Amino acid sequence: MADDTQTSEYTMGYSEEFLRMLHRRSAQSHAAYLLPHLGPGMRLLDFGCGPGTISVGLAKAVEPGELHGVDLEESQILMARAAAGAGGHANATFHVGDVTALPFEDDSFDVAHCHAVLMHVPDTQAMLAEVKRVLKPGGMIAGREMIGTASFMEPDFGSSEAWAAFVQLIAANGGHPQMGKELPDVLLEAGFTDVRAGASFDFFGTREDVAFFHAVATGWFFSDEVIGAATKYGLATQEQFEAWRVATDRWRDHPGSVGAIGFGEAVAFKP
Ligand SMILES: C[S@@+](CC[C@H](N)C(=O)[O-])C[C@H]1O[C@@H](n2cnc3c(N)ncnc32)[C@H](O)[C@@H]1O
Repeated sequence: MADDTQTSEYTMGYSEEFLRMLHRRSAQSHAAYLLPHLGPGMRLLDFGCGPGTISVGLAKAVEPGELHGVDLEESQILMARAAAGAGGHANATFHVGDVTALPFEDDSFDVAHCHAVLMHVPDTQAMLAEVKRVLKPGGMIAGREMIGTASFMEPDFGSSEAWAAFVQLIAANGGHPQMGKELPDVLLEAGFTDVRAGASFDFFGTREDVAFFHAVATGWFFSDEVIGAATKYGLATQEQFEAWRVATDRWRDHPGSVGAIGFGEAVAFKP
């Protein structure tokens, strides 16, 4: 089940604080670029599906086709199964497993989707090779991944330094915090063709959004686990974290503050 520990490879961990961010996601809001490509009867793989909040909307879009979600972490798969059960998505099946060794036949999916996964995986090409194996010829891969340098909290009372440390922490854990803008290159390198790329923001533009983002930042970024990891890697000091906490509170309290996480998104095809 879920616990609050960080793994050395996966920066975000599975704490309640970070899960609040994932629970705000849906296919409509976070896979809007993909939905026009989906239709009834398609077989879709959602790799690194997490708690399934995006997966269930994708399942609806391909009904009566099958959606298969795969994630390393059992706690996430249990949540995804619960979400599919609550929504009546009988065509959705969720598996605990590693995307670099998928339990599926070659050439068996029409579409493979990921959201905020490749940015955390050290060996991008190993994962893409395995996903490509299970896609049918002509099948589509679709990904939406963070662009660390296209993200901000405005006004900048000091949060940009905190964000830079967050980006460095993802890299220190073997991830790729700029993956959103590297997607076309990595997809082409993996042998996919006809790449169509775009970008969008997760935007925090209302007082409620700002309070939400502040609460996640306070509960997750300023947790002992994250501070411990960042200080262990020499990315920041306790004193810097204290200053950033004050800056983040100031940002929350500023009447005109907004925040944004930039994402690159792309679809491409298996020849
Ligand atoms: C940031 S979460 C994103 C979850 C979901 N796609 C979303 O956006 O709401 C990344 C997920 O990828 C999973 N993951 C990372 N590497 C994986 C691997 N090799 N195989 C399966 N899942 C993996 C993690 O367990 C985590 O649940």
